[in-house]
Amino acid sequence: MSDNLTVVILAAGLGTRMKSRKAKVLHEAGGMTLVEHVVRSALAVTSPERVTVVVGHQADRVQATLAPTGVRFALQTEQKGTAHALEMCRSTVPDHEGRLIVLYGDCPLLSVDTIRLLLADHAGSGATATVITTELENPTGYGRAVVGEGRVLKAIVEEKAASPEQKKIREINSGIYCFEAPLLWEHLSRIEPNPASNEYYLTDIVDLFNREGLSVRALLHANADELMGINTRAELAVVDNIFRERKTRELMLAGVTIRRPETVTVDMQVRVGMETTIGAFAQLLGDTTVGEDCAIGPGCILTNCVVADRVEISAYTVAQDSRIESGATIGPFARLRPGNEVGEDAHIGNFVELKKTKMGTGAKAGHLAYLGDSEIGAGSNIGAGTIFCNYDGAKKHKTQIGDGSFVGSNSTLVAPVEVGKGAYIGAGSVITEKVPEDALAIGRGRQAVKEGWAKRRRERKG
Ligand code: UD1
Ligand code: CA
Repeated sequence: MSDNLTVVILAAGLGTRMKSRKAKVLHEAGGMTLVEHVVRSALAVTSPERVTVVVGHQADRVQATLAPTGVRFALQTEQKGTAHALEMCRSTVPDHEGRLIVLYGDCPLLSVDTIRLLLADHAGSGATATVITTELENPTGYGRAVVGEGRVLKAIVEEKAASPEQKKIREINSGIYCFEAPLLWEHLSRIEPNPASNEYYLTDIVDLFNREGLSVRALLHANADELMGINTRAELAVVDNIFRERKTRELMLAGVTIRRPETVTVDMQVRVGMETTIGAFAQLLGDTTVGEDCAIGPGCILTNCVVADRVEISAYTVAQDSRIESGATIGPFARLRPGNEVGEDAHIGNFVELKKTKMGTGAKAGHLAYLGDSEIGAGSNIGAGTIFCNYDGAKKHKTQIGDGSFVGSNSTLVAPVEVGKGAYIGAGSVITEKVPEDALAIGRGRQAVKEGWAKRRRERKG
């Protein structure tokens, strides 16, 4: 971290080209909003009170998203251009000393290494301003960098104002700048509105500095991908893909096997331990952690889950906000709605749905069950087709099953209800009252057998 380094992130625009009701910087790529990515990079080089985000469109929502980071905010009520946006920070930034980096909120792929490179180059050259540029096959839409001898940046010409000759320039402005802060604040207010759009362009400061004899450098960056600014949803998808590739690659290099990685979606914050295998089309989302030696089958979707070591989650299991202890086996086709704790070596089989359920160590529910608002003791076995009736039409109630119990297939437990330790429930029972420890409870119509009935019926019809 450098002292006296201020970062300003411009994020007030609506992003008309997104054709969205939502502000552009709130759209997500790699499982995080665009502006969060940029703030994350900024916080790697300076402290939160030295980062100011300029908000405008949906300011409340942008601020709420970023509140946990501790950064400062400046409000730009009317979007009158990038220079005007920066001007809004004049009194929000802690001081006008040292260096100031400007980043755009719609440029989420920028790496911390590149920001450090910018700082080092800027310090080394002694320039008043340094701008990161890159060369693009198709520079349409970007500001063109007019670069002279010795990488001197003479001007940035916006697409709309560019002459046919200038439009041919393939070196573009990335929108990432480093300034000597005192000189920036001194000159910023002298930028005139652009005659075509009536907006104040920050890019005009380059020409202004040049006319004052202050040096501006263009730092050419080879990785154009990293500098991509998002203006449309098509570009958003491209950037999302790049984040996905980065993440799966990072995991594979750390010892995770990923089958068909191009189909797998892993959010930025997700952690996965070594020797774990992730199947094709799996999605690990949000604040999910998976331990070592696990197998996550194809098509599984885990959101905000904590999975310990040696867990096997088979194909097409969907789990949310749940904790799964080591050695557990789940799926295929299991559904864990929020709030479950699945104990060590527990087993949840196909078409079993869990909600707010705590399964003890080694407990099993192998097939076709709904287990909601319940606690199931260690070593218990829940038969196929068991339903916990947790909802009476108005309220939710709890089902409690003691350790080592056996619930026969197709049983219905009407909550609130309790089954004691080591108890048995006969298959097909409807249980409405407490079952004591070690008891057998059967709650079903008795079987009647009518000898010869079927034969007589056939004969009658014949
Ligand atoms: C800008 C640059 C262009 C560069 C490109 C790189 C200017 C004038 N042009 O163009 O040279 O090649 O980025 O991606 O700077 N914003 C505000 N308030 C405003 C206007 C914009 O906060 O009044 C914010 C936006 O929310 C956005 C960022 O500034 O995050 C850039 O604005 P945008 O309109 O996307 O600029 P570009 O046309 O892409
Ligand atoms: Ca842009």
